[in-house]
Amino acid sequence: MIRDRLCGLWRGGGRTLRLWLRLYWPVLVLMLLLGLCLMLRDAGTVTIAGFAVLAPLTRTIQDGPHSGVTTEATLEVMREERSPKYKVVLPGCPATPPGLLGRLKVVEKVSVSDVEARQRVVVRAGGRWWPEECEARWRLAVIVPYRDRQHQIGPFLNHMHPFLQRQQLNYSIYFVEQAGSDLFNRARLLNVGFLEAVKEGPWDCYAFHDVDMLPENDHHLYHCSPQPRHLAVATSINNYKDSAKLPYNTYFGGACLMAEAHLRRVNGWSNIYWGWGGEDDDMWRRIKFTDMRVWRYPPRVARYTMIRHRPQPVNELRYRLLKRNTGRYPRDGLSTLNYTVTTTRLPLYTHLLAHIGASTDPTGDIVH
Ligand code: BGC
Repeated sequence: MIRDRLCGLWRGGGRTLRLWLRLYWPVLVLMLLLGLCLMLRDAGTVTIAGFAVLAPLTRTIQDGPHSGVTTEATLEVMREERSPKYKVVLPGCPATPPGLLGRLKVVEKVSVSDVEARQRVVVRAGGRWWPEECEARWRLAVIVPYRDRQHQIGPFLNHMHPFLQRQQLNYSIYFVEQAGSDLFNRARLLNVGFLEAVKEGPWDCYAFHDVDMLPENDHHLYHCSPQPRHLAVATSINNYKDSAKLPYNTYFGGACLMAEAHLRRVNGWSNIYWGWGGEDDDMWRRIKFTDMRVWRYPPRVARYTMIRHRPQPVNELRYRLLKRNTGRYPRDGLSTLNYTVTTTRLPLYTHLLAHIGASTDPTGDIVH
C-alpha cells in the first residue's frame, strides 16, 4: 500500500524532479564535490591529481608567538611547518622589534608549572624558540649558572621567555647546575654552558645570566655588540646607581653578553674562583688584557631587579687571585677545563648537570 503510494508520487510529482535533475545535474555534482572538500579540509591536505588544493592552516596564534591558545591539532600543523622539506625564506626581523613594552613588572613568585602552562605551546622542548613571522637577526644562547635556587627558576622563566620572544630572538635557555656540595664555582659553570651550547649552535651571542637578575625594560636588547657587553648596569641591590659611575666601576657581575669570538679571545672564564666573588672581576681584566672594552646600555634601560636570596660563602682568596691574573688567562679557562655533564631537555629549558671537579683537587686546573 505504502509502496504503491510512493510509486504514484514518483510518477506524478517526480516528473518535475526528473526534469530538474536532467537540466541541473552538473550543478548538483559540483555542490557535492565542494561539500566533500570542505569536510576533508579539517582532516588534512586535499590532493587532487598530485596537487595540494586546500591546506588546513588554521591557527589560533595569529598575532605573534604569545597571543592566543592553540590546540594539539594546530600544534601538529605548526610542527610540520617548522620542518618543511625546503626552507622558506622569511623577511628579516626589524632592527627595533615591534612588540616591545618598555618598563616591565617583575613577578617574584610564580611556579615553574604555572609558567609551563602558559609557555609550553610556544616554546620547544629544552627552552628553544624563534619567531615565525620573520628571520631572527640574532641567535642567542642564555646560560644560567645554578644551584639550590628552585624558587627562582619560575620567576626567571616567567620573565625571560616573553622578554626574549618580544625581542624576536632565536634563543635557547640552558641552566648549568653544579653537582655535589663543594663551593659554588660560577665561572666553571659558565664555561661548561658555553662549551655545551656551542655544540648546538651556531649562536651569535652568549648571555651569561644569573637566575636572580631580571631586566626591568625590554628596550634593553639582548644582541651582541662589537665589544663584550655588561647587562646588569643599574640593579635594585645598588639602588639603581649607574655602575659606570660607582667607585667600583669595573663591575661585570649579574649578567653580560659576549660573542663567541670575544669569549675565545680571553680563553673563557677563569676556573679557579670557588665561592662568591671575583670571577666577574677576573673577566673584566681578561677583556682589558686582550684589548677589548666593555660596552653598556644607559642605566635608564639597563635596569635589573635582583631577587633576594641567602648569601653564599664568600671567596676570601679572590683579591689575591685577581692580583696575580695579569698573564694567566691563556693557561686558565676554556682550554684547561675538565668536566662531565648530563643533559636533560625540560619543557622550558635545557638542564645540564655538571661535574666540574673539586676545589681541593690537586689535579685540577689551578694555575697561579
Ligand atoms: C666581587 C664581585 C662582585 C662585586 C659586586 C666584588 O667584591 O669580587 O664578584 O660582583 O663585588 O657585588
